[in-house]
Amino acid sequence: MTTNKALPKPDTPPNSLRVLREGTPTDWPKIEELIRARPTHFIEAALPDMRRDFERGRTTVLENDGRLLGFVIWKTDGRELELLWLAVAPSAARTGIGRRLVEAVLSRLTTEERVFLKTAALDSTIPGTNFSGAAFASTHQFFAALGFSPTARLNDYWGKGSHMLVFEKQIRPSDHRESG
Ligand SMILES: CC(C)(COP(=O)(O)OP(=O)(O)OC[C@H]1O[C@@H](n2cnc3c(N)ncnc32)[C@H](O)[C@@H]1OP(=O)(O)O)[C@@H](O)C(=O)NCCC(=O)NCCS
Repeated sequence: MTTNKALPKPDTPPNSLRVLREGTPTDWPKIEELIRARPTHFIEAALPDMRRDFERGRTTVLENDGRLLGFVIWKTDGRELELLWLAVAPSAARTGIGRRLVEAVLSRLTTEERVFLKTAALDSTIPGTNFSGAAFASTHQFFAALGFSPTARLNDYWGKGSHMLVFEKQIRPSDHRESG
């Protein structure tokens, strides 16, 4: 008799090989590489802002065998926690990395904190770049899957035609860091 055990998808590294850790200054070149791999989402002109947020904020990265597969840059003042920049390597997309990164950050929440992020609206355009507001449909689906909902929209926030949506998440007690 043969057994029919489910095998892992060949391109998906086992979760046990994936390491989640705090970012360090030496991670920047690899983070920049991930950003450049997503030209529909991040424009070249935003790189200095991302670098500044990386230097001033907190970063959580996920790597596999020394290869950086995803990162999230975030900041908190104890009242509000903002997810600033997030990306997963296209080759490793849809394997749970984005979820693990965001959940790792949320696990640090205190009860007082509001969690939010700013992202592009689907009808956003930035002429002369590869940026595509339509490409953010999957980004919105991702945040919806993690329990975030759109709560505000500001037109022309990043320049004419570049509209911003705020997504927020209602935090449940199970999202909070354990005390003691
Ligand atoms: C958005 C992003 C970070 C998601 O990371 P990811 O590791 O691919 O996502 P996950 O595998 O953790 O997905 C978790 C859930 O989100 C939803 N989701 C993720 N990608 C999706 C897609 N392309 N279409 C529909 N739903 C999607 C699914 O419900 C998924 O769960 P499932 O795979 O069990 O169905 C990644 O696609 C990315 O880097 N996008 C470009 C940059 C970006 O949009 N950054 C955020 C800017 S604000």
